[in-house]
Amino acid sequence: MLTSKHILLIIGGGIAAYKALDLIRKLRERGASVTPVLTRAGEEFVTPLSVGALAGVAVHRDLFDLNKEAEMGHIQLSRSADLVVVAPATADLMGKMAGGLANDLASTLLLATDTPVLLAPAMNVRMWEHAATVRNRAQLVADGIGFVGPNEGNMACGEYGPGRMAEPLEIVAAIESALADGPLVGRRVLVTSGPTHEPIDPVRYIANRSSGAQGAAIATALAALGAEVVFVTGPAVVAPPDGVAVERVESAREMEAAVKASLPVDAAVFAAAVADWRVKNASMRKLKKTKGGLPVLEFAENPDILAGVAQMGEGRPALVVGFAAETDDVVANATAKRLRKGCDWIVANDVSPETGIMGGQENAVVLISDQGVEEWPRMAKVEVARQLAARIAAALG
Ligand code: C5P
Repeated sequence: MLTSKHILLIIGGGIAAYKALDLIRKLRERGASVTPVLTRAGEEFVTPLSVGALAGVAVHRDLFDLNKEAEMGHIQLSRSADLVVVAPATADLMGKMAGGLANDLASTLLLATDTPVLLAPAMNVRMWEHAATVRNRAQLVADGIGFVGPNEGNMACGEYGPGRMAEPLEIVAAIESALADGPLVGRRVLVTSGPTHEPIDPVRYIANRSSGAQGAAIATALAALGAEVVFVTGPAVVAPPDGVAVERVESAREMEAAVKASLPVDAAVFAAAVADWRVKNASMRKLKKTKGGLPVLEFAENPDILAGVAQMGEGRPALVVGFAAETDDVVANATAKRLRKGCDWIVANDVSPETGIMGGQENAVVLISDQGVEEWPRMAKVEVARQLAARIAAALG
């Protein structure tokens, strides 16, 4: 999703600088080019050789480097990127930025740039909580600078608290959303995906064959159009996509709680294959095999998450999309389901084993709305996702 994007990456002097090496790899894997800048203090933590080798280009280190000035002055360097990322952003760099100081290459680039800037701060918890840093951060936010992290956790210095640099994948997600472009920028969309697992006892559960492929593809397609995506997924085979906020759940009731916590959203797509029933008498201890005796499972109905959201009054998403996996009378059943659940659209598909749709790469769907019934030709799940995302963008205007 970062194909042909150009990132100017400033690596400040902190122990988290080692994560910047992985960040460079991850950015390049996604098609971005990275121009690295190392501060003097940064060089104490990672070497220009390793940074340059991973970036595939030489590292910029000096403000007064006549060779590089001849090739590309610092003004041009600061403006040639799509995004300037500072990782780790130290208290010192934040202070310089907030005060408008420019006494080395990094701070000069940051003052000279007219490109959006994203900071991934990393510092000791007391430094992060110091009044000066709090003041500087507020000033930088007011100046339009973006932030990712810091996270809370154990620090290299042995203390605990906020100050750990965001993980490379979190920084990549923040970069992707900072560079996002498209009709869904500024829109928040929920996608549920995958199966649910309903426990029988601590080791056994009831599941279904949903792979989560269609839901993951929809989340990817929505994010590619610029949406902020919340992806609530059961234990799926397909990994959640990059660039979306992932909430992992197991049971239907956990999924319902995660969905409620994600609201409000502009649109919600319920692609999960939620179990209709859970085991009412699920055991806290492993059920033992007893001679001649078989366990008797009693069932209780799970909450209908889609219907709950579709029928909420205030705070209802502008667009609620349900899925219907059917084996018989697909259109008739799905049409009735749309009305029963109160959702705006139903994406229905035939999951009879002979179609190979469940767990496969392709899907043949019917889109049912108040405008009628549209049969889409059989196509790759990613293509279904792209077309559905485009329709969602059009519907949200
Ligand atoms: O009722 P049925 O399971 O066929 O409906 C399918 C649609 O309802 C899907 O969009 C699914 O994600 C959603 N659903 C739900 N909660 C349930 C059951 C289904 O959100 N308990």
